[in-house]
Amino acid sequence: MSFPKNFLWGGATAANQCEGAYCTDGKGLSTADVMTGGNKDTPRRITNGVEEGQYYPSHVAIDHYHHFKEDIALFAEMGFKCYRMSINWSRIFPNGDDEQPNEAGLAHYDEVFDELAKYGIEPLVTLSHYETPLGLRKFGSWTNRKAVDCFVRYAETVFTRYKGKVRYWLTFNEINCLSMMPWMAAGLDNNAGPQEVSDAAYHQFLASARAVQIAHEIDPQNKVGMMYGGIMSYPYSCDPADVAANDEFMHRMYFYTDVMCRGYYPSYKLREMERTGITLPVQPGDQEILRVGKVDFLSFSYYMSLVCGKKTAAKASETAISIDTGYVNPYLQQTEWGWPIDPAGLRHLLNLFYDRYQIPLMVVENGMGTYDTVGADGAIHDEARIDYLREHILAMKKAVEIDGVDLMGYTPWGCIDLVSASTGEMKKRYGFIYVDVDDEGNGTFERKRKASFDWYKKVIATNGEDL
Ligand code: BG6
Repeated sequence: MSFPKNFLWGGATAANQCEGAYCTDGKGLSTADVMTGGNKDTPRRITNGVEEGQYYPSHVAIDHYHHFKEDIALFAEMGFKCYRMSINWSRIFPNGDDEQPNEAGLAHYDEVFDELAKYGIEPLVTLSHYETPLGLRKFGSWTNRKAVDCFVRYAETVFTRYKGKVRYWLTFNEINCLSMMPWMAAGLDNNAGPQEVSDAAYHQFLASARAVQIAHEIDPQNKVGMMYGGIMSYPYSCDPADVAANDEFMHRMYFYTDVMCRGYYPSYKLREMERTGITLPVQPGDQEILRVGKVDFLSFSYYMSLVCGKKTAAKASETAISIDTGYVNPYLQQTEWGWPIDPAGLRHLLNLFYDRYQIPLMVVENGMGTYDTVGADGAIHDEARIDYLREHILAMKKAVEIDGVDLMGYTPWGCIDLVSASTGEMKKRYGFIYVDVDDEGNGTFERKRKASFDWYKKVIATNGEDL
């Protein structure tokens, strides 16, 4: 037994990080469009609208909007069975709350899906990947229940339009990152308080649950998953106090998967809210919405593992480099951006989720950001990436073969180089395909195959046997 025959090998991107064309064909502004570039040492800034003289990486990105045919042809050459992408909500509803969708935006994704179909590549579409329409800010974005209706209208529009073209959907990218990155995950100010974050999470749960139900009604073939930002943490030591602190940290994360996979708020979360005076904006019928709208599968990103213990701050903080829990794992190497590399942790997380929910899983992001350079011979030697991915694929294989985890597929992140979400850099590259563009948007935008391109092609061709 190895990976299943129909295993969905592929790659993943997000619209705001690759499309560019930020105001083409009627697109409105999203939260991503007002984030400046940054780097490891300088955080990205959120500006009040688009300011003259600032550089915003999402505005041009890798111009996938105009290169998608070429890019998809390269994905097909690698043998992709699946392409995880996102629809940029503000292309379809430019202000988020418009009554009618923007036809030019809808038509664009028709072309993308038709192109994928040409090569037999199954789209896996994220509805909201760190690109909330800025227009929702006028009423408090996700803190306001109006956002639920806006999202539902958007979801229903695309489920209807792309019926038969798209069968796999994800609602919110890395929904659990809301507490650490309120702007990116929900269009809230980054200093949003716990009540606002809780309201936003509650509304996203409702929106996701309603979307699941509508997707099933529109096409019973539709499968809708949740997307968890793969935070997994080990206790610092076997000191029970370290273990308890780690449990507490992980409860803050698993609460999201618990609600979306089980259909109700877990007891530990309800008690925590009682203790801290947080209330839920519940309306009659909500419990039923959450119960009926449980997801069909659980997908997650996985880049690293963390360590928590007695001295972990109440709220671990997200920096441009990593997530700061106050601990460093001495057993692990780190990437050039300080992300701990832990393939065994992926097997651990797969087991943890499968034991907890017993529903199909999918790894929809994984990879290593590196400084890739084009050699004098024109080649790009990204052997470190190959090593990273090989070890993670081996870990998934153990989870499937030895532990019996039901794993649907694997779409490594940034299959083509794109803008980094945390730093806004282009030079933090993840792709099998190099794109000639720098951190200021200069370059020819030419696409080049890296060494990992041929390696991944062989991996897919052998269904993960030849690594
Ligand atoms: C995930 C996000 O958190 O990690 C992606 O879903 C992001 O949008 C990816 O790009 C890698 O992170 P970064 O910051 O290196 O781009």
